[in-house]
Amino acid sequence: MDPIQTFVDGRSFITEDIQRELKARFSEVDLFKRLSREEKFIQRSSRKSKFYSRKNFFKRRLIENQLKLAGLYSRAAKNARDVRITNNIVSLRNLPEAIENFKILQISDLHIELSYAACDRVIDILETVECDICVMTGDYGVEINKALDETLRILSVILSCLNVPVFGVLGNHDTIALVPGMERLGITMLLNEGIVLKQDNHSLFIAGVDDASHFQLHDIEKATSFSNKADVSLILSHSPDIYEVAERAGCQLMLSGHTHGGQICLAGRIPIVLDSLVPRKMGSGSWRHGRLIGYTTTGRRDVSYACTSELSARNRYSSASACKCRTPG
Ligand SMILES: [Fe+2]
Repeated sequence: MDPIQTFVDGRSFITEDIQRELKARFSEVDLFKRLSREEKFIQRSSRKSKFYSRKNFFKRRLIENQLKLAGLYSRAAKNARDVRITNNIVSLRNLPEAIENFKILQISDLHIELSYAACDRVIDILETVECDICVMTGDYGVEINKALDETLRILSVILSCLNVPVFGVLGNHDTIALVPGMERLGITMLLNEGIVLKQDNHSLFIAGVDDASHFQLHDIEKATSFSNKADVSLILSHSPDIYEVAERAGCQLMLSGHTHGGQICLAGRIPIVLDSLVPRKMGSGSWRHGRLIGYTTTGRRDVSYACTSELSARNRYSSASACKCRTPG
């Protein structure tokens, strides 16, 4: 019997055509691993797993009720729809002149079916944004076991606003079955893979790892195996959890999402809970670990208080250390 058949039974949206494309795109071992982790995730999240469902139900209800009691729920929901773009200047030493002022647009944690209004806002923003490349750091939908058409439809509208190369990784809310459709839209999906992008006489290496949070399927070594052939190496990871290995692998810049900035924050944007093992300072915004510079976008959230909802971060490479694009004197 086909080893992946067990995992696609009951998931009719993974059609025979998609299965064929997946088998052509991934090794049997990798495909088997990904689908089996998805299956476990589905089982854990299903109503059959009463403890898991109840735990999450009560956690969510507790947060909602606390906000309602404090009269803050409608404000929190409004915050989540208030999508805005954050500009971030990244200072890298020994940056080749040809790559100076290179602009990377990051889109993360769209969770499309949670709010179409927020997606419309994203599309409006994208129409005004200039960038050299766009990276998508996962969690396009919410339900991993849901038909792909709606997610791909919204992504196609987003892609129509972007006239630049687009690279993507999967998050813990994404099925690998999305990959053929996303690649047909023109997104270069990186699942423990890397690609060298030529820029005049210099080059940018872009690596992407599979989800490191719930699925634990990241393989940085494999993804960065050609990074030394480029002047700058960028790594995309849905979750920032891999920051230590990314630094050891020689990556210079890591872009992530997943944490939603803690979703509910205390004054001063201190997150109450991060769905990640990283130190709190890495839960949102820019941070540094040794030689690695990182940016964790808070993404779109269904309920957020104190953290402003931020869908996209536009990162601009600069060799300057101040917040202006200048080469240091
Ligand atoms: Fe996530």
